[in-house]
Amino acid sequence: MRFSRVSLILAAGSAIIPSVSAWGAVGHEIIATVAQMHLHPSVMPILCDILNYKGNCHLAPVAAWADRIRGLPQYRWTGPLHYIGATDDYPSETCAFPGERGWEGRRNINVLSGIRNTTNTLESYMSLRKAGLTTESDEDAAQVALKFLIHFVGDMHMPLHLTGRDRGGNGIKVSFDSRVTNLHSLWDGLLIAKRIRTIPSNYTRPLPLPDVESQLRGTIYDPYIRRVVWEGITGKYEDELDSWLTCPAELSVQPLQTHWEQWLSWTFGRRIGSWIVGSHLTDGGLNTDDETLCPYHWATPIHALNCQIVFPKALDEPPYNRVSFSGSTDDHACHTSNQSLEVHWLSRPRKNPYLELDTPEYSGAIEDAWIVEKLMSQGGIRLAAVLNWLFADMDDSTPLNRTYIL
Ligand SMILES: *[C@@H]1O[C@H](CO)[C@@H](O)[C@H](O)[C@H]1NC(C)=O
Ligand SMILES: *[C@@H]1O[C@H](CO)[C@@H](O)[C@H](O)[C@H]1NC(C)=O
Ligand SMILES: *[C@@H]1O[C@H](CO)[C@@H](O)[C@H](O)[C@H]1NC(C)=O
Ligand SMILES: *[C@@H]1O[C@H](CO)[C@@H](O)[C@H](O)[C@H]1NC(C)=O
Repeated sequence: MRFSRVSLILAAGSAIIPSVSAWGAVGHEIIATVAQMHLHPSVMPILCDILNYKGNCHLAPVAAWADRIRGLPQYRWTGPLHYIGATDDYPSETCAFPGERGWEGRRNINVLSGIRNTTNTLESYMSLRKAGLTTESDEDAAQVALKFLIHFVGDMHMPLHLTGRDRGGNGIKVSFDSRVTNLHSLWDGLLIAKRIRTIPSNYTRPLPLPDVESQLRGTIYDPYIRRVVWEGITGKYEDELDSWLTCPAELSVQPLQTHWEQWLSWTFGRRIGSWIVGSHLTDGGLNTDDETLCPYHWATPIHALNCQIVFPKALDEPPYNRVSFSGSTDDHACHTSNQSLEVHWLSRPRKNPYLELDTPEYSGAIEDAWIVEKLMSQGGIRLAAVLNWLFADMDDSTPLNRTYIL
């Protein structure tokens, strides 16, 4: 039978709780795996060393670490680093990124700043490492920064992590295949799960691409990764991959610098230089973007999806705008608790008052347009590019061709 493996597991009910608890992480793991397929050969050994792997080294197992630890007291402050939202943003009525009243929350504590800061940390770490000057605390800081970077690049490619409305959709109950869930969980797991369940059977066999196959780990979603790579990255997206990594040209035009700024930039490297002139840049006032890494620029079209498709207009029209419920005060968490698993998998189909989204107009349109698959591809390619940029050994005899740095 075509979908036997997946349907078996989904049908197994409560017996499957342990394996299902990884579902919230699937998107992150897919993005990390796709990235790993596009790394320059000199990069993975360095990443494995920083991550202090003994045994099989892979980026996927650490990709959801940031979600697992965010409830611990010492990491509670990192919760708001998983998302960003603008004050005026209220999709699908208004999409503001950021709009006149700017961003919600504390300055520089958001997912785009998180990508910038962890990259900066790793860049400084690499110069120390090349000079043989790292201490144990540098090693620890690099490990944490790397795990956060892998995670945040994934979060940035999830449209609901770019809006503050109803805690990134966690507070909006919807129905999917007559099961009650919420909009955030739907995008976190259910849309992907449905794609995995309905994958064409030819993807259960290995692809004729050794670089792809060698990074797969025998997971339930391997066939889906094969499809994303085969039909997406080496298929319909091949000609636009370069454009995914482009940062706006005006960013590389340095505004008039004072001598002081030039001196700082000469002393500390280009990044500090652009940080200081950052207020001139067009990155929503976040100071996150430069000519190599531009999370704000990359996030802008992803945020726009919230008005285009993620938030259906019907949510704000009768009768669904009158459906009320009490949401928890938890922030944009991608839930991994037992409770949400019940919401995901164990609730039976039942008549419910919420907007049904497993429809041709909603999930069907998202599938036809390959929206989730494109986001996964972009996340993987961009993560690979950032890691290659940070860690690839340019003196390595392997030429740095398009295969590795797109
Ligand atoms: C990023 O760095 C800036 C400047 O050092 C700091 O103000 C901010 O709190 C940092 N943000 C994060 C998310 O670490
Ligand atoms: C799998 O089948 C689909 C058609 O259902 C086709 O478009 C795709 O190219 C095939 N993939 C491989 C790897 O052969
Ligand atoms: C989830 O449920 C299982 C079995 O009911 C329990 O052992 C486990 O501690 C629960 N985990 C959480 C995070 O609540
Ligand atoms: C890129 O480099 C790899 C490793 O040297 C090589 O196998 C591959 O053919 C090269 N690709 C192109 C497009 O030059």
